Amino acid sequence: MGNKLELRNISKSYGRTKVIDNMSLEVEEGEFFVVLGPSGTGKSTLLKIIVGIEQPDSGKVFIDGRDVTRLPPNKRNLAMVFQNYALYPNMNVYNNIAFPLKMHRIRYIDRKVKEVAAKLNITEILQKKIYQISGGQQQRVALARAIVRNPSMFLLDEPLSNLDARVRYTARSELKKLQQELNQTFVFVTHDQKEAEALGDRVGVLHNGVFEQVSDYKDLYEKPKTAWIGDFVGDFPINIIDNKGFRPEWAKIGSGKFSMTVSLSESVSDVYFIHGLMDDGTGIILKSPKPFGSGEVVHFSVEKFIEFKEAENPPQAFSSV
Ligand SMILES: Nc1ncnc2c1ncn2[C@@H]1O[C@H](COP(=O)(O)OP(=O)(O)O)[C@@H](O)[C@H]1O
Ligand SMILES: [Mg+2]
Repeated sequence: MGNKLELRNISKSYGRTKVIDNMSLEVEEGEFFVVLGPSGTGKSTLLKIIVGIEQPDSGKVFIDGRDVTRLPPNKRNLAMVFQNYALYPNMNVYNNIAFPLKMHRIRYIDRKVKEVAAKLNITEILQKKIYQISGGQQQRVALARAIVRNPSMFLLDEPLSNLDARVRYTARSELKKLQQELNQTFVFVTHDQKEAEALGDRVGVLHNGVFEQVSDYKDLYEKPKTAWIGDFVGDFPINIIDNKGFRPEWAKIGSGKFSMTVSLSESVSDVYFIHGLMDDGTGIILKSPKPFGSGEVVHFSVEKFIEFKEAENPPQAFSSV
């Protein structure tokens, strides 16, 4: 059924850089939890603290109610899959998977390696060396090596980001299926919001050392708590007028109290996104069934606005010029 993870008031600095700032989080048993954030926001640091490779400056880590903060990584029974997979390139696939079992003197190694290889569809490549197999296969070997020890939780650090687009797409759905089969708790780190949307039961957006919002992806998009979240989540940054936000599809073009001068019309599948500037220089993007020419003035109304939690400065892209 998986194990529960709890972080309580975790802080971590490197020199003067505060990477994690009094963060707390609960991940439920069997949950697929995604940590989403731009590069450099502390995602890898957070996973290293959970797995025990890094120590927090303060705060505690609980696995299934047990305080593991001072335990070394090998006593936590967590599996981590690294972004670069950290496989042994000159060993074959079989020995890479068997390695953690040998390290921990676990019995029935052969049976366990073959079982997990079958589950991940890599039986045919067990005798190949790591440098002889594709990136997608390496990703599965890394997962197999994580699963084989029967860990109580999986921590995955951008495991799909090195794959090319098509492989990544299949790997994504395979990973979701695997998590459901294993019925285990996954903490999955990514900077890719499409991945977060596809995989996460809940998504935590990391910003300034804390989770600025934790919710399902739909709520990140439709109910961003802050202007920063509204700007970061979605194909386009959220529009902001008078410190209130609205998505391109929440406006109606034709009439209304707002107007903008069109700068360009961008075609996305069968609709258009019209970029323009209001008189005060505010940048706006609206969804439209038809394109508008550059310089045209478009009137619009807004059906729904989001009120942000704290009055924040609008993001750079929207500041007046
Ligand atoms: N061992 C380290 N020593 C010093 N600074 C580090 C170390 N590890 C990470 N950092 C810094 O901490 C910040 C967060 O890094 P990281 O957790 O790798 O972010 P992410 O995984 O989100 O890209 C970055 O500014 C990075 O340079
Ligand atoms: Mg990282």
